[in-house]
Amino acid sequence: MKKITLTDLYKHPHVQKYVKRSGMVHAISTAYHAYRLAVKHGVDPDMATKAAFLHDIGHYKWYKNGHWDYDMYKENDIHAIKGAERAHRILVSLGEDRKKAKEIALAILLHTDSYLPAGSLNLNPLQKVVALADEADEEPGGSHHYRTVSDIKALTMIKKLDEMVDEYNEEEKVKHSVS
Ligand SMILES: [Fe+2]
Repeated sequence: MKKITLTDLYKHPHVQKYVKRSGMVHAISTAYHAYRLAVKHGVDPDMATKAAFLHDIGHYKWYKNGHWDYDMYKENDIHAIKGAERAHRILVSLGEDRKKAKEIALAILLHTDSYLPAGSLNLNPLQKVVALADEADEEPGGSHHYRTVSDIKALTMIKKLDEMVDEYNEEEKVKHSVS
């Protein structure tokens, strides 16, 4: 089975549309944080970076009179649910392993609890890594959604992260074949 890369995801027209809506810089930064945190916590960096890159693709623009309406967003937002479903559909359409597609979708579903009734979630390590990566890139007032980057620079950063994930997986393979 061909490995689905972050570059494959980046080039998908729906990913372009939805990630640009919620912020390409935020998506890429969160994916880099997820890589670092995944390595630190022994989580699969392939799934962690994919979930982090796609985590906000369920966002809808809550505008009133041309301005973002934060109260309307807070009241009506279900971006984690929508994002999980969109990510799952895109991953499966590209040929992602079904088990991985489900894990990634679940990590997106649970990356925030802002839309859930009060209570605490018992997150698994992958889900924790994605939530922490998102928090690590958050800025006050939601301004992390508005940072911009050129398409060329974005693609270069995504390809670099693909290489980092591949190198990590190669090293892990060697480690396991030696032990
Ligand atoms: Fe986010």
